[in-house]
Amino acid sequence: MPTMPPPLSLLLFSLSLLLLSLSSQAQTPASSGQTVTINPTFRFQNPSLRRAYYALQTWKKFAIFSDPFNQTGNWIGPDVCHYNGVFCAPSPSDSSLNVVAGIDLNHADIAGYLPPELGLLSDLALFHINSNRFCGVVPPTFKRMKLLFELDLSNNRFVGHFPAVVLKLPLSSTWISGSMTSKAPFLQRYLTSLWMPYFLTITV
Ligand SMILES: *[C@@H]1O[C@H](CO)[C@@H](O)[C@H](O)[C@H]1NC(C)=O
Repeated sequence: MPTMPPPLSLLLFSLSLLLLSLSSQAQTPASSGQTVTINPTFRFQNPSLRRAYYALQTWKKFAIFSDPFNQTGNWIGPDVCHYNGVFCAPSPSDSSLNVVAGIDLNHADIAGYLPPELGLLSDLALFHINSNRFCGVVPPTFKRMKLLFELDLSNNRFVGHFPAVVLKLPLSSTWISGSMTSKAPFLQRYLTSLWMPYFLTITV
């Protein structure tokens, strides 16, 4: 069996240390503790859109503090597919189901944070929030987004290192590119050198 050259094994060792330290932080709650009440007269085409309503309303009501261009102004009522910046498409696993497949709030200058409930948007393929004022961390619940292939978090105010949860996305299917600002440059280099069958573009 060929042995790995020392730099690579060192790198993998560091990566596993990092993953260990990240998993010990993973006790973050799956909900923000604040609850949106769904109007009982609202009808949703399917349970996925109902969950999306819950996630988006939690974001708007409890985790968005300033929205200077009124981007979320029309995030009202059960028809989430007509909300600004929210895009629906047939689910890849069942084309008869319309699901929230994309969020694009680039350049909206919104201040707030990403609540754990966003993990309910488990059909998301694109999540673009570049050039806003989001702070805090990327919630660990993002690992539920198994279809995510474009994640653009650049030009926000997130704290800390390379977002831990990004490593828990379906990395078996990942090509990571983009400009990553990480306090762990070795990790950046490692991530940008991964080559796997599908594409995930991450910009943080
Ligand atoms: C924001 O948008 C909503 C819906 O389009 C509108 O009703 C509301 O008046 C707008 N608010 C401001 C401050 O422009």
